[in-house]
Amino acid sequence: MVSLNPITQSQSLFNKTHFQVSPCHSLSTDNFQSIFIPKRVSFQFQFPLSLRIVNMPMKAAAVVSATTAEKPKKRYPGEAKGFVEEMRFVAMKLHTREQAKEGEKEVEKPEEQAVPKWEPSVEGYLRFLVDSKLVYDTLESIVEKPAYPFYAEFKNTGLERSEKLAKDLEWFKKQGYAIPEPSSPGTNYAQCLKELSEKDPQAFICHFYNIYFAHTAGGRMIGKKVSEKILNKKELEFYKWDGDLSQLLQNVRDKLNKVAESWTREEKNYCLEETEKSFKYSGEILRLILS
Ligand code: HEM
Repeated sequence: MVSLNPITQSQSLFNKTHFQVSPCHSLSTDNFQSIFIPKRVSFQFQFPLSLRIVNMPMKAAAVVSATTAEKPKKRYPGEAKGFVEEMRFVAMKLHTREQAKEGEKEVEKPEEQAVPKWEPSVEGYLRFLVDSKLVYDTLESIVEKPAYPFYAEFKNTGLERSEKLAKDLEWFKKQGYAIPEPSSPGTNYAQCLKELSEKDPQAFICHFYNIYFAHTAGGRMIGKKVSEKILNKKELEFYKWDGDLSQLLQNVRDKLNKVAESWTREEKNYCLEETEKSFKYSGEILRLILS
């Protein structure tokens, strides 16, 4: 069992090669610290001290350590249920209240407003679908030729979206729409995912989880609302799964939980900290709907 001793953990976090600049660092995150512990959300206050003290001067950290040495080990939110629940907890806090009731983030960008308030365009939605397809193509080819053997677990989960999106784009073409080339939100994210998958498996898994699971939750709601507004309620293939979706999701949750069982606490925290970046990249693609 991994030690949760605050001092040891904070020191080992600093020492990890992981904390060199991440391959897809170029996205305009506020600063390194905001990736490490998101400033604008309050979940850090519910995290064990071991995670919170990483930004404290070491002198202060030592005091915390001395006063907490005898306290029982704290659990991370969601930990008892498995690592997916931990990832979900962090993701939900990064929603705005308008997006989801568990959300805590302030609305800062157009796509963070309530979906019913959106004014989508068909051309913008097509740009979103094209860039989403590039992201799913990338994820699905990564697990087909896994850089780390455990990625192979995530082949043919039934959550794949690439073929469904190809059918939808074909439908738009038949309706007379020109299909655009992928734009920078999609190409940047695809490049980032490729690099992470080769060098940074914990970060990659965070993106993998968020992309597939977000689409089955908020993504579906977006699809419904947008279709009501601009597609005469046409139900796209992107929002249809073969088989029982809740069972498919549970199968993937089980596999993710199993994979993460062999991770150290530091690796788990590192994966959780990637969530903010996942929101930023996906948010840029979502914003295309409003372009
Ligand atoms: C307009 C944008 C979005 C809306 C309206 C939205 C809305 C929602 C809602 C309503 C849920 C379900 C909450 C529940 O279980 O009670 C959810 C879950 C979730 N969302 Fe979002 N979301 C949005 C964007 C995102 C983005 C950008 C990401 C990350 C890339 C994300 C990741 C997730 C994840 C991981 C879950 C948990 C899914 C699960 O429990 O299976 N969401 N979202």
